[in-house]
Amino acid sequence: MRLDKYLCDALGATRREATKIIKSGEVSVDDVVQKSGAFKVQEGACVEWQGRELAKPGPRYLMLFKPQGFVCSHEDGFNQTAFTLLDEVNSKDLHFAGRLDVDTTGLVLITDDGQWSHRITSPKHKCEKTYRVWLVDPIEAHYVEQFAQGIELRNERELTKPAKLEIVDAKEHEVLLTIHEGKYHQVKRMFAALGNKVEHLHRERIGDIILDESLEPGEYRALTEQEIDSIWK
Ligand code: URA
Repeated sequence: MRLDKYLCDALGATRREATKIIKSGEVSVDDVVQKSGAFKVQEGACVEWQGRELAKPGPRYLMLFKPQGFVCSHEDGFNQTAFTLLDEVNSKDLHFAGRLDVDTTGLVLITDDGQWSHRITSPKHKCEKTYRVWLVDPIEAHYVEQFAQGIELRNERELTKPAKLEIVDAKEHEVLLTIHEGKYHQVKRMFAALGNKVEHLHRERIGDIILDESLEPGEYRALTEQEIDSIWK
């Protein structure tokens, strides 16, 4: 790809702006300053602008360990948005493939590929999500069966789809819940319907993508090819 086209795609710049930036000597390819827009960028080359590597043009796929206190939207009058945790150019083009509540922690996937995220969020595709849940009150014996059968949520006509509940630590009121729907506040509402309350909610898995254990809250990384492709299975 030509260097000026690379810059247009990576920075959302016009061709004229890209040419100006390149001429200023602020752009290097594999550590060599390039001043011609016609320069051919090879596959896998490292293109830097003002010393900062530019994301390869093309769709982006990221996993973020969302901490508490951040919202999954571009704007919020009160809380910080999780986009402020990203060091990405053109972050306005990115969206969440499924949101978490402000007080929920864990795995969120972020992309600019609408078809890919639709595959995750559309109920038709039954993409599983696993949550680790800490409850306020003790886990009752009938919960596992009740989640498998479906639960009647407040203000909903249909029962929830069969979900898998695993008891991790009865003493700590800790369970793992796997669902493949994404109704508003679904997990909290499911437990509320059984008369319990969620103390803390943490998402660990979406489809085959598991939150990377090496990420600290607030950190993110690009998905691997294998993780990206797993969503199409
Ligand atoms: N269900 C909830 O209730 N909250 C979340 O953040 C995610 C799933």
